[in-house]
Amino acid sequence: MKQTVICPGSFDPVTVGHIDIISRASKMFDHVIVAVMVNLSKQPSFTIDERISLLKKAIGDLDNIEVVGFDGLLAEYAKQRNATAVVKGLRAVSDFEYEFQMSLTNKKLNPELETVFLTTSAENMYLSSSIVKQVASLGGDITSFVPECIRGEIEKRLSNK
Ligand code: PNS
Repeated sequence: MKQTVICPGSFDPVTVGHIDIISRASKMFDHVIVAVMVNLSKQPSFTIDERISLLKKAIGDLDNIEVVGFDGLLAEYAKQRNATAVVKGLRAVSDFEYEFQMSLTNKKLNPELETVFLTTSAENMYLSSSIVKQVASLGGDITSFVPECIRGEIEKRLSNK
């Protein structure tokens, strides 16, 4: 059976840490849906369309990866797309409680849905979209935090704030 999984997130903006998890997932599963979703506890800096566009540029032409936006429940979207699992990156112990809570909530809403955690690569342990936003807004160098092909766009967008 063809295995479809979802890599959900705010991706506000996408970082090299996200790209690492997405590309590793694309080697493990047949079809990866990268879903830009709403996290009600965060106030995004980029619109959903901007985040999708940045992700598409950063991912390039990998034919088993699809980038979409969805503003509803992840558990419902997984049902609609016949996805068997959610794939998320786990950075540190501090991520665990929140990710565990989301995983259990999704399982309650859609009992067929599994969550697979990939350990983040060591060099990305500290990295987050918030770090990128803080450093870029204050004129710092984000070269090692985001894919080179979208760095200029992110810097320009955040320095306008
Ligand atoms: O990158 P993030 O902000 O950690 O991703 C969190 C996200 C967007 C995956 C999560 O907030 C989510 O699943 N949002 C969709 C709405 C939903 O299903 N919420 C209930 C899950 S607890």
